[in-house]
Amino acid sequence: MPPLFSSPALDRHRLRLRHAAAFALLLIAVALFFFLFRFAAFSSTSPSPSPSYGHRLPTLVDLTLVHGAEDKGAVCLDGTPPGYHWLPGFSYGSDKWLIHLEGGSWCRNLTWCAQRKKTSLGSSAYMERRVEFVGILSDDDSQNPDFYNWNKVKVRYCDGASFSGNVEDEMQYGTNFFFRGQRIWEAVMSELLPKGLARAKQAFLTGCSAGGLSTYIHCDDFRALLPKDSTVKCLADGGFFLDVEDISGRRYMRSFYNDVAHLQDLRKRFPGCSSDMEPGQCFFPQEVAKGITTPMFILNPAYDVWQLEHVLSPEGSDPQHSWQNCRLDITKCNSKHLEILQGFRKSLLDALSEFKKKRDWGMFIDSCFIHCQSMKSLAWHSPSAPRINNKTVAEAVGDWFFDRREVREIDCEYPCNPTCYNVVLDRPYNEE
Ligand SMILES: *[C@@H]1O[C@H](CO)[C@@H](O)[C@H](O)[C@H]1NC(C)=O
Ligand SMILES: *[C@@H]1O[C@H](CO)[C@@H](O)[C@H](O)[C@H]1NC(C)=O
Repeated sequence: MPPLFSSPALDRHRLRLRHAAAFALLLIAVALFFFLFRFAAFSSTSPSPSPSYGHRLPTLVDLTLVHGAEDKGAVCLDGTPPGYHWLPGFSYGSDKWLIHLEGGSWCRNLTWCAQRKKTSLGSSAYMERRVEFVGILSDDDSQNPDFYNWNKVKVRYCDGASFSGNVEDEMQYGTNFFFRGQRIWEAVMSELLPKGLARAKQAFLTGCSAGGLSTYIHCDDFRALLPKDSTVKCLADGGFFLDVEDISGRRYMRSFYNDVAHLQDLRKRFPGCSSDMEPGQCFFPQEVAKGITTPMFILNPAYDVWQLEHVLSPEGSDPQHSWQNCRLDITKCNSKHLEILQGFRKSLLDALSEFKKKRDWGMFIDSCFIHCQSMKSLAWHSPSAPRINNKTVAEAVGDWFFDRREVREIDCEYPCNPTCYNVVLDRPYNEE
């Protein structure tokens, strides 16, 4: 017996439908073929549309939340688990590890930390699920010649104090705040060690800005986690914050660090720090770096834009707004500004002089107007990257890491270096 609703008319209708569906599928397949073909042609011959240098788009790497972090109390400001992005190494880079500690300033009081809890810098609930790996994190050999095939990890920053706080109490004035950066550092390392970090032949701890300070703080801890016969070094990029007077004659940065140190009870984290110093003083790289025994590379522009904005001419120091344009674009600085900028550069070189003598240490102090050069493909290694003695930052860092030569590059004063890539900001610099 034929099915109840089958009729010749209905069958013809079904046949037409099937033809239409097949035709539609064919159209989709043809469209897909052309799309893929064009995309392949585009990515192999056209420059990348994102502001990066190279022959292909940056690799996107997924966020991993640290397993069991809440049980260890290793959490972001808001109590969410911390996270990291891991791009596995390949070829001869499989047993080499580069860890990058994310930057993003610090929060100095509960008002600011409460705002941070609603951003990726205080909560993994707001972290991007995938990020681009560029500069020192790039897996493209043309952009990152020495480290492209290493395991690379970007550790997200969400504790507000450069991975150094460890306050047991989670209630502050009736609200939950977790100051647990030290535990986050430990939890992330414990998770990475069994993934291969524990067997690393070579390892490199890096970070920029507040992450650069984190690198000074954790460099020796990192060394201690790795096999005795491995090569371990550290790179602090744009993290040499100076304890100097601002343009109004106050020590804005020191009072900022005093607040951070007070809020997250950091004095006990730096027991070597002398008791006649203010707690915030112990948090400056110049103090932290004194005790480091692992080889360090100090990468810092002499006119770091973040520092010009927040250390030299911070909010409240310039009521006449006479620095407004100079802070955003170095070509807008007049001779008075430049004299102060050269003084700032001199303070940096004075503070660095004791580290210049350390054997095994390296430095690259260019005279550019920039911040976080290891994290920008144009500034790290590209035809338009800043050079000292004809070497890009990537080449200088690689030469030093692999002992190809000693690297203690100090650039001449602005505006002497024609290779400088100077940023022009259209608004005050707030990231990192
Ligand atoms: C936090 O710091 C900012 C800026 O320094 C200040 O305006 C604010 O009043 C401070 N808040 C608290 C609760 O201390
Ligand atoms: C600078 O380095 C490039 C390669 O990076 C090389 O082609 C060029 O000849 C060098 N210039 C000088 C003056 O040494």
